[in-house]
Amino acid sequence: MEVYSEKQHISNVVSSLKAKRQTIGLVPTMGALHEGHLALVRKALGDNDMVVVSVFVNPTQFDNIDDLEKYPRTLKHDVALLEEVDSERILVYAPSVEDIYEGNTMSQKFDFDGLEYEMEGKFRSGHFDGVGTIVKRFFEIIKPHKAYFGEKDFQQLQIINKLVEKYNIPVTVIGCEIYREANGLAMSSRNTRLKPEYREAAPFIYETLMAAKDKFGIKSVSEVVEWVENQFSSHELLRLEYFVVADTNTLKPVDEKTSKKSYRAFIAVYADDIRLIDNIALN
Ligand code: PAJ
Repeated sequence: MEVYSEKQHISNVVSSLKAKRQTIGLVPTMGALHEGHLALVRKALGDNDMVVVSVFVNPTQFDNIDDLEKYPRTLKHDVALLEEVDSERILVYAPSVEDIYEGNTMSQKFDFDGLEYEMEGKFRSGHFDGVGTIVKRFFEIIKPHKAYFGEKDFQQLQIINKLVEKYNIPVTVIGCEIYREANGLAMSSRNTRLKPEYREAAPFIYETLMAAKDKFGIKSVSEVVEWVENQFSSHELLRLEYFVVADTNTLKPVDEKTSKKSYRAFIAVYADDIRLIDNIALN
């Protein structure tokens, strides 16, 4: 399997594939691949002739240097996993910071029509400018027909949709369902850093989301929010950062629901010093 580290190189290879009328799917990742990522890659392989998987820990989307430094980097293992999925139709693009940012590790500033101010945007300053900057560059370098993003990061998925709409980028964005461990915990590269007792406690997050979904059918929004906050206030290992019920499309938090709109619940929880996020469709 070819691993490209230079943008010009991968860009040329993809151009010549496109000249031969091959369709190209892109799966952007920060590596430390797990089954959740591989589900995106499998979906992309089903829809396209060739799939580019980018593996790049993007410094501009981290607001915490410690988190950036501790982010797992396992390129060899990632390539081995991708080889097992398909050894012929996947290209890996694993650039250096220099190759992508050319000495200017700064984010572009974006206006995502307010999507960027809610939830993750409130708690991770500059995060979505960093995500927008890197994904826009990947789209410019690879020029894929389709690009795949997980609903695990639902706000990110909506922001990418907005990016594509605002900049008229000729790519179809495909959202993919959250892939979970058997115990319900949403797969994440960060899970590998959980100490055993926290790993055991973490499925409580999804259990609570499912219970909140049940309650959403019969209780008011504020009652559901209060119930979730209470579940965590008495929890010994998990600390709730936020639980928000929001409009699925605008991501604006709501206090009241109407039967015509679609809602989703979003949650961020600290397990020790590791931040875990999850979300669920409520109706
Ligand atoms: P990363 O966290 O590596 O995730 C890469 C892609 O995999 C994202 O679209 C994410 O939503 C998806 N993903 C992760 N865990 C998943 C799960 N359990 N089920 C389904 N999809 C899952 O998200 C990023 O990287 C970065 O922000 C990136 C878009 C690559 C820009 O740097």
